[in-house]
Amino acid sequence: MEKRILLIIGGGVAAYKSLELIRRLRERGAAVRVVMTQAAQHFITPLAAGAISGERVFTDLFDTAQEFDVGHIRLARECDLIIVAPATADLMAKAALGLANDLASAVLLAADKPVLLAPAMNPQMWANPATQRNAAALRASGLGFIGPNEGEMAESGERGIGRMAEPEQIRDAALALLNGGPLKGKRAIVTAGATLEAIDPVRFLSNRSSGKQGYSIASALAAAGAEVTLVTGPTALAAPLGVSTVRVESAREMLAACEAALPADIAVMVAAVADWRPAAVAEEKIKKTEAGIPALSLTENPDILATLSKPGKKRPQLVIGFAAETEKVEAHARAKIARKGCDWILANDVSGDVMGGDKNQILLITRESAETWPLMSKAAVAQKLAQRISETLAGKSAGRG
Ligand code: CTP
Repeated sequence: MEKRILLIIGGGVAAYKSLELIRRLRERGAAVRVVMTQAAQHFITPLAAGAISGERVFTDLFDTAQEFDVGHIRLARECDLIIVAPATADLMAKAALGLANDLASAVLLAADKPVLLAPAMNPQMWANPATQRNAAALRASGLGFIGPNEGEMAESGERGIGRMAEPEQIRDAALALLNGGPLKGKRAIVTAGATLEAIDPVRFLSNRSSGKQGYSIASALAAAGAEVTLVTGPTALAAPLGVSTVRVESAREMLAACEAALPADIAVMVAAVADWRPAAVAEEKIKKTEAGIPALSLTENPDILATLSKPGKKRPQLVIGFAAETEKVEAHARAKIARKGCDWILANDVSGDVMGGDKNQILLITRESAETWPLMSKAAVAQKLAQRISETLAGKSAGRG
């Protein structure tokens, strides 16, 4: 049956992406009815939204014709899902407080259907405790969130968390809410970030992994309907929504947390796990002494990817690793599949600024094939991977049945 979506467009530069969102939703057979706030109309016109949605656009709570015709209660009722994109700080604050002094907020207050918010705002506005309080209150009331993503702001060029999720991400999250998503009923474990290996109580060995790629993969799998456990080393990132996040430090803790999350259908090991750790952790801070520079003796860490790939009842159906390479990318990745026993490797060339950066160039190696993905954002890589995983698992279960 055709799904009916009510899209509330708030007043932010990201509103232009909402037009694209309407197209993406309609491509998937959804009917989209649009409500625009007064502020949104400074960025895009009701005429554009109407042309793309193919439906009348609603803008005013106090317009007799609009209110008599359909009315805010009917707008809230005659849909299967409400999307707010962009969800501005102001709209979120109103919704959190239960204000209803314009059409968008009145519809939200009258809503009895799932609501998905796609926040978009300046990073400082998103980080502000007031906005965070409102977001927490809305989450606690059962509203769903997609994004905001990290990236560059359209208006100021500033970087940070606040960029609206891409239209495809919002569409997929919306369809997952409506349909349960292609990975409904599947369990996934994702590792992310660097591990931290203690030398003494204050010093450690680690690496430059930011965790961004792993966090976006965890989010994308959750948006596709999977039940996701993210096992992460220390990062500066906020725990993704709808994901159960386990924070660890060392490789051994990461392995234990992954094993505790089994059984799973999917394992995506993105963490940059330290290959070695200090053989012994000094109980007290190591002091400078006359004896000179201390020698650091290292011992090998467990290989989490190889451990989860081991054949057995608990082995996830699809085990995926990453390979950071600077040369002979495909050959090294193939050797890694064989050595670790995993199913796929996403190899990336890290000779540039991939680690810590926002973009990634992937070569996906499976046991049978190799495919090069274009240079894309880490969020887009996550999206594409979630899609490939969904297709593969759907194919496998179709083959078995
Ligand atoms: N991995 C892991 N546990 C380890 C080491 C690595 O789970 N102790 C996983 C990583 O999460 C990643 C893949 O294995 O999915 C990377 O393999 P690794 O052997 O560490 O290769 P690289 O670091 O890419 O490079 P090299 O082969 O040079 O060691």
